[in-house]
Amino acid sequence: MVKDKVVVVTGAGRGIGRAIALLFAQYGAKVVVNDPGGSPDGQGGDQKVAEQVVEEIKKAGGQAVPSFDSVDSLSGATSIIDTAVANFGRVDVVVNNAGILRDRILFKMSEEEFDAVLKVHVKGAWSMTRAAAPYMREQKFGRIINFTSTTGLIGQVGQVNYGTAKAGIVGLTKNTALDMAKYNVTANVICPFAYTRLVGTIESDDPVVQARIDKFKKMTPEKIAPLVVYLASDQAQEVSGQIFAVRGNELVLFSQIRPIRNMQLDKGWTVEEIGEIFIPAVKNNFYPLEISNDVFPYDPLV
Ligand SMILES: NC(=O)c1ccc[n+]([C@@H]2O[C@H](COP(=O)([O-])OP(=O)(O)OC[C@H]3O[C@@H](n4cnc5c(N)ncnc54)[C@H](O)[C@@H]3O)[C@@H](O)[C@H]2O)c1
Repeated sequence: MVKDKVVVVTGAGRGIGRAIALLFAQYGAKVVVNDPGGSPDGQGGDQKVAEQVVEEIKKAGGQAVPSFDSVDSLSGATSIIDTAVANFGRVDVVVNNAGILRDRILFKMSEEEFDAVLKVHVKGAWSMTRAAAPYMREQKFGRIINFTSTTGLIGQVGQVNYGTAKAGIVGLTKNTALDMAKYNVTANVICPFAYTRLVGTIESDDPVVQARIDKFKKMTPEKIAPLVVYLASDQAQEVSGQIFAVRGNELVLFSQIRPIRNMQLDKGWTVEEIGEIFIPAVKNNFYPLEISNDVFPYDPLV
């Protein structure tokens, strides 16, 4: 389904990205394994992180090259795309998986913590897409696969920077899908659930919470990869601008924002009328502020 396609996976040295790179190679794609190999908050670097995945792919008979640039600038992203073109002659698929966390409650979060997270996730995904788009437009084929999070779609305490970034990636995906549609380039976004180092530090004294964590531990990065490879295939030409999730053995298609109630007054609304008429009429349709039971009211099969 993706044999000989040239695929760039960012953040492919670990976790979900690594599993995606391995599965693409197994299906005969030529893979650029991009990862500067930094810490979970994006500091430092280690070239061995990407090199090890390349070695693993080559040992299994696949084709891959490493790339150590950061996605967080257009020059870094251009150099990652150049690596694909220089080694394999083209670029067919970009998987924007790279990510970091700098969690902090809103009223204590620093400007640097906000900027750093937006830079890797939003600017990184835009830069990679911008650098690859001219090639994809020219060859009239391309696949962009981005990663969001429940923090961006629903919300989470202490992750204002990450939630803003992950919601931004949904907007990036939908607008990329529109700009590139006539060139056979699709763009989709996946909300993954996988036990990796980014989430692997969570433990709890509460047995109920710990049971949930134990279940989460069974949601491996390998479960995310098949949907990514499918979305990259020729078969998935009609799938674009969609928001998916993978939760263990469960695949999900998300709804997207639409007006759900509306009222019109022919003379327009006063402040008082909004309080007396509109809000009482729509408040049964308000979304709950609590996280997620409303969104995922059942446990996944794992
Ligand atoms: N694990 C989950 O359950 C979960 C949930 C929601 C969203 N996500 C998203 O999935 C993606 C993968 O996360 P993961 O859980 O595998 O984490 P991970 O930390 O295991 O892997 C992320 C990789 O991205 C790399 N990276 C960081 N900054 C980079 C940069 N500037 N340029 C290139 N690479 C960079 C890191 O070195 C790391 O190897 C992220 O976008 C994350 O936000 C994960």
